[in-house]
Amino acid sequence: MTGVIKGTGASVPSRILENKELENLVETSGAWIQERTGIERRHIAVRETTVSMAAEAAAEALKEAELQPEQIDMILVSTMSPEEIMPCTACQVQREIKASRAVCFDLSAACSGFVMAYVTACAYIEAGIFQNILVIGSECLSDVTDWSDRGTCILFGDGAGAVVLTAAEEPGYLPSIYSDGSKGEALTLKSRQNHNPFGKEAPGESQGTSYYIEMDGQAIFKFAVRSIPQAIEEVLQKNHLHKGDIQYYVLHQANERIVEAVAKRLGEPAYKFPMNMKEYGNTSSASIPLLLHEMKEKNMLKSGDRLVLAGFGGGLTWGTAIITWK
Ligand code: ACO
Repeated sequence: MTGVIKGTGASVPSRILENKELENLVETSGAWIQERTGIERRHIAVRETTVSMAAEAAAEALKEAELQPEQIDMILVSTMSPEEIMPCTACQVQREIKASRAVCFDLSAACSGFVMAYVTACAYIEAGIFQNILVIGSECLSDVTDWSDRGTCILFGDGAGAVVLTAAEEPGYLPSIYSDGSKGEALTLKSRQNHNPFGKEAPGESQGTSYYIEMDGQAIFKFAVRSIPQAIEEVLQKNHLHKGDIQYYVLHQANERIVEAVAKRLGEPAYKFPMNMKEYGNTSSASIPLLLHEMKEKNMLKSGDRLVLAGFGGGLTWGTAIITWK
């Protein structure tokens, strides 16, 4: 028994921010961004929120799965940009879509979050605990971006993607998921804290500053290019599969050069690595479900296709999972 994807959905803000516009904010050029990252534009939330985008993507996925909201047993949201710490985003999505029976919680694993949430949902289904699970990646990274830092503000975008997983009588796959907390300082988004009365200094807050994503771009680049091919090789080996059994590798959309380097290291052709960061930038945990949804909409996926999902990011965390398309 495992979970199969019965529906997908996506939601992105209507406001599009072109590379050119970033030239007014920081010392950069549209051409530099395009050449170094593959990103040409991204969608930025104006009225939209992490919850509203997640709920919209979820509703679309439910519709395709032909399930009523009350049939959902669990909602798992991966996000590092929640509107509120409490209640969690998943509970707020539950309220919006009226999935009254669902148990809801968020999962925080940065850009690996969707893969981690997908694997968690499959484990609940494989254990026989739940039948129908909504897995959502939703981010409003524009809220946590330092718009004066040219090393990061050119990269990120907002959006959400969702899948509905339903229990099916077929064998699942073993995932390969990893963390290395010792290297966490390479990519951070520090939490806001008030002073407590026991002498603890709240970092930054006392100076009236807020917190933004900070990143050692080159370290993250090298980490991704090294760890992802290895994790893909491992997940294939674990499941007694070969590269020829895989139709597509659906990677976290951080940088075109990272995806190309992974393809090269694996010795696999570029067409097996679809990309859409050109349109959306890096949307962290939303990037994989957004891309999956787009591939489905473009009729790129047929029943029985085997895909590898691969995420990497803050923590550090990274991981791969194999799915068979419904
Ligand atoms: N515009 C123009 N010049 C820039 C910009 C910019 N926006 N940013 C940096 N530069 C300059 C640097 O200052 C440097 O100048 P110098 O040579 O005079 O010192 C030069 O460009 C080269 O800088 P690098 O940092 O070496 O540029 P690089 O080719 O590594 O590209 C980038 C930077 C795009 C950030 C790249 O390192 C990258 O994509 N890293 C991975 C980031 C990533 O994937 N993060 C997210 C993963 S997890 C998550 O999604 C949260």
